[in-house]
Amino acid sequence: MAQLWGGRFTKETEKEVYDFNASISFDKRFLKQDIRGSKAHVTMLAASGILPDDERDKIIEGLESILTDTLSGKLVITDEYEDVHSFVESNLIDRIGDTGKKLHTGRSRNDQVALDMRLYIRDEIDEIKELVASYMKVLHELMKSNLHTYMPGFTHLQKAQPVTFAHHIGAYMEMAKRDYERLIGIRKRMNYCPLGAGALAGTTYPLDRELTARLLEFAGPTLNSMDSVADRDYVIELLSALNTIMMHLSRFSEEIIMWNSNEYGFVELDDAYSTGSSIMPQKKNPDIAELVRGKTGRVYGAYISLITTMKGIPLAYNKDMQEDKEMTFDAIDTVKSCIKLFADMIATMKINEKRMEASASGGFTNATDAADYLVNHGVPFRDAHGIVGRLVLKCIEKGISMGELSLEEYKAESEAFGEDIYEAISIKTCVEKRNTIGAPGPEAMTKVLDINEKYLQTI
Ligand code: ARG
Repeated sequence: MAQLWGGRFTKETEKEVYDFNASISFDKRFLKQDIRGSKAHVTMLAASGILPDDERDKIIEGLESILTDTLSGKLVITDEYEDVHSFVESNLIDRIGDTGKKLHTGRSRNDQVALDMRLYIRDEIDEIKELVASYMKVLHELMKSNLHTYMPGFTHLQKAQPVTFAHHIGAYMEMAKRDYERLIGIRKRMNYCPLGAGALAGTTYPLDRELTARLLEFAGPTLNSMDSVADRDYVIELLSALNTIMMHLSRFSEEIIMWNSNEYGFVELDDAYSTGSSIMPQKKNPDIAELVRGKTGRVYGAYISLITTMKGIPLAYNKDMQEDKEMTFDAIDTVKSCIKLFADMIATMKINEKRMEASASGGFTNATDAADYLVNHGVPFRDAHGIVGRLVLKCIEKGISMGELSLEEYKAESEAFGEDIYEAISIKTCVEKRNTIGAPGPEAMTKVLDINEKYLQTI
């Protein structure tokens, strides 16, 4: 048991207590961040006249060798250390002797772990941003190639009005853009350096906190030492943003699962992104989409867990906060693999335009347009709604679509109908005439594509 304290203790820690308290099994993930933070810390100590330059160099060299040897497998992080901070410090002292004991000057594990977590979360935000950007590029391509792929739009899961596949995908594009912007906002708010806060009340050394912040690429130092060690808002914010990303992917997964079913047949997932059944030879299952939908639960769990852990903690640091890590790590890992696989899955799926268009042509998705036709011929909308409702009923009785009614049948309900009704209610017209910005018509969609194209170039 290698621990950084013990002077005031008269007994060894119980083994079970030690194990219960230890965080090495999961905070070993922080090795890179911990060493980066320590290097900046000693650089600042030397610049502030607290540590001689030659000792700074010795410490930095020692820290770098620990990182290199751990990454190469020569040095192994084992349970004999309480946490990653003890692992690094003990090994540093083993390697460079007494100078290593100066590393922790003007620092506490409280501000150290606060820094590690921030550096880690910041790195992860950058990676997640990249993944969301790649996902958005897939959506953008799908939109560009499906401007005229007609499909039914739904409300209450009932066919409502025709849209295009590009338009439907465009909805997910807007969600992804907001997801991306949320990540940027979180990164901006969290980008302040807590190192130098000490245990909770700063230190008596003349630390140059601005320098530490600059060395670690923060916008500046945090402004309250108690808040610096007690704040995990940025983790909660990230988990909340990840929840929303998963909620979006889960909704999309649900649609993919439906569209990929025999009943819909709108898309066909690629063999490489589907799985089979051990008993039913005909099966090709959308397991990836189902898992993305399913894993949403554990990501939500991480958020609920942390926001609950934090709610009763008095200022400043308390050991409860060690619980900020495991579920957060799991949530981040989960979201990253979900975005990546989901993007690959939709980039490779086959789109069955014919099935989509046939589906859009049934289900009276053009009924609103028939009513609008009457309005354009002087019939008040409420009357038009009733007339078309009766025509729909007639179609249902006869088992036909609105395009198959004869002109006499139309005229029997309203004299305002003319030969051009057929053109007016064709799926093509229904979609292509909807060109206010945000609507599925290709003119409107092209404007949105231009905006998105520019947006993707800026990120
Ligand atoms: N493992 C601890 C954590 O994750 C590091 C900080 C320990 N600080 C302390 N005062 N015991 O929160």
